[in-house]
Amino acid sequence: MKKQLVLLVAILSGVTGFGQVLQNAGINPFAYKIEKKLTGAKGAVASAHPLASLVGAAILKQGGNAFDAAIATQLALAVVYPYAGNLGGGGFLIGQLSNGKQLAIDYREKAPAAAHRDMFIESDGKANTEKSQYGHLSAGVPGTVAGLFASYPYAKLSFDKLIDPAIDLATNGFCITALEARGLNAIQADLKKYNTQTPVLLKEQGWKEGDTLRQPQLAATLNRIKEKGKAGFYEGETAQLIVDEIKRGNGIISLEDLKNYEAVSRTPHRFTYKDLVIVSMPMPSSGGLLLNQMMKMVEDKNLRSMGFHSLASVQLMTEVMRRAYADRAEFMGDADFYLVPTRELVTPDYIKMRMKDYDPGKATDSKQVGPGKLLPKESEETTHLSVLDQEGNAVAVTTTLNNSYGSRTVIGGAGFIINDQMDDFSIRPGVPNMYGALGGEANAIQPGKRMLSSMTPTIVTKNGKPYIVLGTPGGTTIPNQLFQTLINLLEFDLSIEDAVNKPKFHHQWLPDELVLEKGFSEEIKMSLKSMGYQLARERNSIGRTELIRVLPDGKLEVIADRRGDDSVAGF
Ligand code: DON
Repeated sequence: MKKQLVLLVAILSGVTGFGQVLQNAGINPFAYKIEKKLTGAKGAVASAHPLASLVGAAILKQGGNAFDAAIATQLALAVVYPYAGNLGGGGFLIGQLSNGKQLAIDYREKAPAAAHRDMFIESDGKANTEKSQYGHLSAGVPGTVAGLFASYPYAKLSFDKLIDPAIDLATNGFCITALEARGLNAIQADLKKYNTQTPVLLKEQGWKEGDTLRQPQLAATLNRIKEKGKAGFYEGETAQLIVDEIKRGNGIISLEDLKNYEAVSRTPHRFTYKDLVIVSMPMPSSGGLLLNQMMKMVEDKNLRSMGFHSLASVQLMTEVMRRAYADRAEFMGDADFYLVPTRELVTPDYIKMRMKDYDPGKATDSKQVGPGKLLPKESEETTHLSVLDQEGNAVAVTTTLNNSYGSRTVIGGAGFIINDQMDDFSIRPGVPNMYGALGGEANAIQPGKRMLSSMTPTIVTKNGKPYIVLGTPGGTTIPNQLFQTLINLLEFDLSIEDAVNKPKFHHQWLPDELVLEKGFSEEIKMSLKSMGYQLARERNSIGRTELIRVLPDGKLEVIADRRGDDSVAGF
């Protein structure tokens, strides 16, 4: 079987001319398969694209650890998954080293120095969400490349080895999937509107499954990063190309903004749930804190006896979401700029008080909920990948351009899409962002500030060892998805497939509506309505979770979400 595959690769490589690096790794970018599940692996990667997972797994096989694989997978995603993989965005990494050390690396985009609180408010006083969501002004200073280099000290292989597969994919191309073709076709008009030069993603006759995407400008950018490291992106030619493009489109990112960008090491947000310790992202992500609040609100509620997707459990979890998200809007933002009452929002007394008005028979009104009253101090379009290696290192990474294909603006000459992350700020109190989220002072725009995120890369540990590694895209639905996936596993004993793939639901306080993914029974929908829940239009899909769980014998079971091309690879 293996021999046949090698032969096929050898034949095809002659035809298609893909490069030596991928050939050596046994990866054919013109013939690959989506694999949704793997059981019994020693090391594995789950990501949004089969080629990126294969690249990560090849690095693990070559002796790299989970950090090597996470870096190589992110770089490959920047090429094969322009929908959300990126050089021009930002992200978060949660890691646990085999010696038990836990880390959080924050490479979230920052507001440029010339940004200001009212930069998206027009002279008539209206907030301009087109400008905060599309084109040059919507871009924050990108953090991804700094993040890769901030996690590199924990890796083992040479950086060249980690970036070469991405360079090969960008230079020699790869076949796009049906989903990618659909995604690209959907943004063709935007690509015309928000670009000053014609990007390779624009194709007059439209994209179809199996088309080859080659990205020579992106390959050149990757080569500069290979040669000069972080400076290959934040200084010199790439930086100049970014600033030239941004200027052509009346944006405000400057050479100084780029040169000054630093990823930050933070203390992970940790909390216990029963006998487990959950390690997740602190501010500027709301994710870890929201997950903490929600898990604590249900810890004593015996969800297990209510059952998966029972009326009682869906209703309880919806009420929990409502309360946590009301706190998000009021209290959460970049803690380097705003005093976020992280500890106060999770004390047992506060959690108890928040659930006091919970009524198991009916919907609470969001107008009556509002953010919690703090008690006096006691003491004081995104993508996720999960990696675990055989040494016991675990990495969860969520990175994003914000919207799918970010700002829709490609940096001319550098070949990558720039993010539209400025929209994750509260551009004005009362004006919802693209995920309908509201905010105020805590998340107002300030120069150098990071916009509040919902990304929640998470590692659940048992007896100090990684037990579950997970995360997902999905804007404000992210913490709610993690909440459900974890409860599905820990309380409802679902298989990892079902925990990830069964329909999800979402409530974020305001708008006061419950969003269901398609697949809930008519009966439960009727019952929820009669309890007073406003049901929003059903969504076809919520999120794309990548999850690894360690089995009792130490082997891994790995699942990639059914909702996309998401795929697993390992050995
Ligand atoms: O940081 C955040 O919360 C958002 N920018 C994430 C965007 C996202 O998940 C897009 N995916 N659907």
